[in-house]
Amino acid sequence: MDREDELIRLALFGSPVEHSLSPRIHHLFAEQAGLPIEYRAIAASAESLADELRALAAAGGRGCNVTVPLKSVAYDLARHHSERARRARAANTLVFQGANAWRAEMTDGVGLLRDLQDNLSLAVAGRRILLLGAGGAASGVLHDLLAASPARIEVCNRHPARAAALVRRFAAGGILAGLDLAQASAAGCDLVINATSAGHRGQLPILPAGLEGFDGTLYDMNYGLAAEPLRQWCAQQGLNYVDGLGMLVEQAAASFHLWTGFQAATRPVIDRLRTAASAA
Ligand code: ATR
Repeated sequence: MDREDELIRLALFGSPVEHSLSPRIHHLFAEQAGLPIEYRAIAASAESLADELRALAAAGGRGCNVTVPLKSVAYDLARHHSERARRARAANTLVFQGANAWRAEMTDGVGLLRDLQDNLSLAVAGRRILLLGAGGAASGVLHDLLAASPARIEVCNRHPARAAALVRRFAAGGILAGLDLAQASAAGCDLVINATSAGHRGQLPILPAGLEGFDGTLYDMNYGLAAEPLRQWCAQQGLNYVDGLGMLVEQAAASFHLWTGFQAATRPVIDRLRTAASAA
């Protein structure tokens, strides 16, 4: 078998993907594993995704990641669905099971929990959490957040009906509540998680009351430029802020494991990306 036959072909589909860190992350994992991979970031639309998936599978692809705005399209195209993907109704990872059959997986929640609990030593069990946003990013992590036994999760959204709908979908014994973001308060919470997309437009999200003087942690699922508005606001207020770079690496490690069976060490990869970001 020559090296070309051994090559593990992977890709990321979404839009935009040009500045994605995922190719870099997966190549660092492959280096650790001693596995030859090709991982390309490919711009795709809802209309083109099915053809792109078939082309990758025909070229011997083993699977792919899917990002905004294609996570629910990818879910619909998959033949099989993991429990996590079913609950999110979205996929960030597909595992190819043949020329035209993909299994939908969702590793965002695992990534968030590993970053919070393992990397940052922020316990979720017994804690009160305010989740800002009720879109795709929020629904992708709720299953794993609930499984970590928090005391309460309040899902707050600008359009409260969307928060209420998400809470109905995940209804978990009264510990989940849907709120109007404009009426929400961080008072009494231990952890605030930003799952809104405001930062992608360079904006601060609408923020809950009581954040001034908040002594818990504000975890932003955004990273890079999209994290800047909230990071800067928190720095001005002297709040404890963490961006989502660790979550990005952890969800990638969970995907890499699904494709290859190799569990990558994430800490050196996170450190390397942080060093590169601070040098830029
Ligand atoms: P994603 O897949 O990134 O979650 P999405 O499904 O479009 O994208 O959801 C975006 C989320 O960010 C929504 O919860 C949205 O609130 P609405 O549902 O009320 O639109 C939230 N959002 C976007 N801009 C926001 C802002 N400036 N302030 C607060 N929430 C914002």
